[in-house]
Amino acid sequence: QKGGHKHFMIKEIFEQPKVISDCLAGRIDTNKCEVVLPEIAEMEPPERLHIIACGTSYHAGLWGKNLIEQWAKIPVDVEIASEFRYRDPILSKGSLALAISQSGETADTLAGIKLAKQKGLQILGLCNVVGSSVARESDYIMYTQAGPEISVASTKAMCSQLTALLLLALYWGRRKGTIDDETYNRAVKDLRNIPSILDAELPAMRSRAKELCREYSEASSFFYLGRGLCFPLALEGALKLKEISYIHAEGYAAGEMKHGPIALIDPNFPTFALALKDDLFPKVKSNLVEVQARGGEIIALTNPGVELDVEHRWILPEVWGPLNAFMALPALQLFAYETADYLGKDVDQPRNLAKSVTVE
Ligand code: M6R
Repeated sequence: QKGGHKHFMIKEIFEQPKVISDCLAGRIDTNKCEVVLPEIAEMEPPERLHIIACGTSYHAGLWGKNLIEQWAKIPVDVEIASEFRYRDPILSKGSLALAISQSGETADTLAGIKLAKQKGLQILGLCNVVGSSVARESDYIMYTQAGPEISVASTKAMCSQLTALLLLALYWGRRKGTIDDETYNRAVKDLRNIPSILDAELPAMRSRAKELCREYSEASSFFYLGRGLCFPLALEGALKLKEISYIHAEGYAAGEMKHGPIALIDPNFPTFALALKDDLFPKVKSNLVEVQARGGEIIALTNPGVELDVEHRWILPEVWGPLNAFMALPALQLFAYETADYLGKDVDQPRNLAKSVTVE
């Protein structure tokens, strides 16, 4: 069942190359190099998008917001479903609610769908489980096609959600004519190569995660820092670590550190930084210098050729723009996994947690 792996979580992390391919299946016309989404072909691109989700699915939504706004020029609000359902949100005509849920059974997300419906919105569900409640309550449904996810810690589901959100951003961007041809063609072409690149990289990533986790398994707290597209990934890295290893971790926008949290930094409070080669790298770098000035140790996910003087550089292969998330996400997952396993925790069934949260 675990395919020779010790836990479902590690099996599911290693399934991610296939998950990306499966999510792309039938959604890219390889002859024309076009994204085709038959599920929403009848729908006009929305004027505004309200993403509602919980936990890891919420982090995927935050990531997707960046691309949908940048490429499709659709304003996006991303809300934690348990907050959204008890507000009186202003939802204008022409808006669409996008409910993201792996299980499709999360009570708060379902309540968010009901509220959005009452206010006259149509619902697009982005779901992994076929025929789930979210799928049934939605007007349109896009399946992530990741296959069953058994481990409580969501890994491959997020990978498939990122893939689907990227496709949505490209698709709406193309339909609205707001994305330039060069970006569109590059994204479609390079996305198709990600599964083989990731497949080749995963074993080395796992070894690096094993090495590093031993050094930091005694830490009682971690910061995860990132900016831009890496900020939601920082939130996700922190969630994974706390969920399965029970080490306290906080994900922060790197630029927000100096507004309070930096006070916590000392030599026993390490930072896990996402310092990839992107436009925001110089900003992240200067935030990391501030951490070092307070004696904080740093593990940084980065790319070849990046100049960064920190305790541990974890070099990931460089891919195009937002596709770097498909390299950084498994690295974060593997670090959490190896830490929890090293500490002897019950990786697949962490304490106090259920796979799907069907009650409030
Ligand atoms: O099934 P859903 O995507 O709606 O679940 C949402 C969260 O409960 C879920 O992502 C949770 O945060 C995971 N255990 C995180 O690994």
